[in-house]
Amino acid sequence: MSASHNTETVTDVHHWTDRLFSFTVTRDPSFRFVAGQFTMIGLDVAGRKLMRAYSMASATYEDHLEFFSIKVPSGPLTSQLQHVKPGDTVLVGRKPTGTLVADNLRPGARLYLLGTGTGLAPFMSIIREPDIYERFEQIILVHGCRHVSELAYETYITSTLPQNEFIGDMVRRQLLYYPTVTREPFRHNGRITTLMRDGFDPSFNLPPLSPESDRVMLCGSPAFLADMTALLEAGGFNEGNSSIPGEYVIEKAFVEK
Ligand code: A2P
Repeated sequence: MSASHNTETVTDVHHWTDRLFSFTVTRDPSFRFVAGQFTMIGLDVAGRKLMRAYSMASATYEDHLEFFSIKVPSGPLTSQLQHVKPGDTVLVGRKPTGTLVADNLRPGARLYLLGTGTGLAPFMSIIREPDIYERFEQIILVHGCRHVSELAYETYITSTLPQNEFIGDMVRRQLLYYPTVTREPFRHNGRITTLMRDGFDPSFNLPPLSPESDRVMLCGSPAFLADMTALLEAGGFNEGNSSIPGEYVIEKAFVEK
């Protein structure tokens, strides 16, 4: 074992589509992280370590780690990683980091978690964190994808999590999940930027977005982040970091793999 990473064993693999999969690995007891952070993940391929950044999708208190990934046929790492099976080993960097953490945000009433594609991953950890429901009255998770089949974790979010014996009550009362699809009919259609600019349907009872009361976390493609950041900055939101908390924080989904 080198100093920079642990060698963990794959315990489960789930293929959502031919482009998306998630997997769980064992967790070294010394590995601690804050919900929303990422670490380096990789494989030893012919003696060469291929490592890329991945957000932890699992809760901070679980005894395994979970990751959500795309499969890029030409991607040096994911072209290999997509074939992992239970019992295989994966390298997990020992130093989690990242800006998508609640401490980088000023207190507020509502927290918007806006993610496209695999940008959902850090939010899967955050919505399982009891502390987030104490910091904010309402959590609004918006997941934007091209196709319905890409709405990974939908059943978990709508059926399993609300029944969780520890946080189910808070989830039922405080979490609003809003999946939206852009390239085929669905109950919600359109880009996240359009939704945030024009506002939710009045039936959701959400006031217009305001830097006074609302906080935003963004994770997705560079184009999504650029457009969403411009919209927030124009609305008076400031980006937060670990020295000066703000009204929004941002992390790119690590796509080129
Ligand atoms: P669209 O289908 O209109 O491009 P991708 O798979 O390309 O990362 O896209 C994931 C989701 O993010 C899609 O629904 C896509 O919508 C949307 N998206 C892509 N670019 C932007 C952007 N600049 N602003 C908002 N949403 C975007």
